[in-house]
Amino acid sequence: MNKAPLLFTPFRLGALELPNRIVMAPMTRCRAAQPGDIPTELNAQYYAQRAEAGLIVSEATQISPQGKGYSFTPGIHSDAQRDGWRLVTRAVRQAGGRMFLQLWHVGRMSHPVFHDGQLPVAPSAVPFEAAIWMVDPATGLGGTAPCPTPRALTHAEIGQIVEDYRLATRRALAAGFDGVEIHGANGYLIDQFLRTTSNVRTDEYGGSRENRLRFLKQVVDAVASEAGPARTAIRLAPFLTARGMACPDILPTILEAVGYLHERQIAYLHLVEADWDDAPEFTEAFRQAVRARFPGPIIVAGKYDLDKAAWVLEHRYADLVAFGRPFVANPDLPQRLAQGLPLAAFDPATLFGGGVHGYTDYPAWESTTA
Ligand SMILES: Cc1cc2nc3c(=O)[nH]c(=O)nc-3n(C[C@H](O)[C@H](O)[C@H](O)COP(=O)(O)O)c2cc1C
Repeated sequence: MNKAPLLFTPFRLGALELPNRIVMAPMTRCRAAQPGDIPTELNAQYYAQRAEAGLIVSEATQISPQGKGYSFTPGIHSDAQRDGWRLVTRAVRQAGGRMFLQLWHVGRMSHPVFHDGQLPVAPSAVPFEAAIWMVDPATGLGGTAPCPTPRALTHAEIGQIVEDYRLATRRALAAGFDGVEIHGANGYLIDQFLRTTSNVRTDEYGGSRENRLRFLKQVVDAVASEAGPARTAIRLAPFLTARGMACPDILPTILEAVGYLHERQIAYLHLVEADWDDAPEFTEAFRQAVRARFPGPIIVAGKYDLDKAAWVLEHRYADLVAFGRPFVANPDLPQRLAQGLPLAAFDPATLFGGGVHGYTDYPAWESTTA
């Protein structure tokens, strides 16, 4: 008997009938075609290989050129990008899967190399320590580069970004996605507005909790106005402390956001627990507080295995469990988990950038044993 039987039961998510409760977590892989940050047949093949997941969330995808912070990440602000994503959604659907697009504006997590030498933007011009992945134009080699102190957005520019989210949503739906997940986690623009450490504005977007939540609410409303609430979702990272994000008021701020998201009846709330370079404590009291405010579908992500998945589902702290790194080298992860098969390890050297190798050449179990 499988250790986490609930994980393999169907789940109704808005209009979608998911065959299991396994979600492929969003993962940036930096393999969009250049120039233009356009998704390709190779990306389509990669996602289609992973279509056994109940739901796939795409890699983070910039809503505008300004929203970009890493080399070779895809966008959803041009018609060519929309057409590239159509290849992906078609392949995933043909393989029997369902897919949301993750909408991304990095804010200050960026570098002038992506903005014609101009500074990245943020709620406020606060110095912080973080790095992005970029390809050096001189050498063609990928590596990390520190982020400079950003410039503060004007009030009018904030309104334009909300509009960019709306237009990106429209393109994502035209590209055939089942819905969109707003990236409100991991120290990117929306998260930067939420926290006193990155937001010291004195206008209606800064200061009080209500003001720091204003941008998130406006983005959620703009996206939901295009997609409808049942196809609108959001990802948040309450316990993040890296990237200059250790805000003392973040938990009450996020709980207030969660109440708003429930009122808006969005498709799901996606919570990041332990992330790539940051392993925060997700307390049980906090899980209970979230559930009390959000009875709708909750996805959790961060170092989950079958035991942890069984625990979180049985306690009803979550309805679905997202797996990130395990999906990299195990395209057939749901089947492997269901049958208790061994999991392959991924090669960290091929996570970001490159081509087929370390991307679509990890075999499924049958081909390993054939
Ligand atoms: C290579 C890589 C890229 C990632 N890119 C994204 C991303 O684009 N958007 C996002 O919200 N999280 C991103 N994450 C975080 C994952 O979605 C997930 O939360 C994290 O890997 C923890 O889950 P895991 O322990 O199952 O890997 C990324 C993680 C990895 C390993």
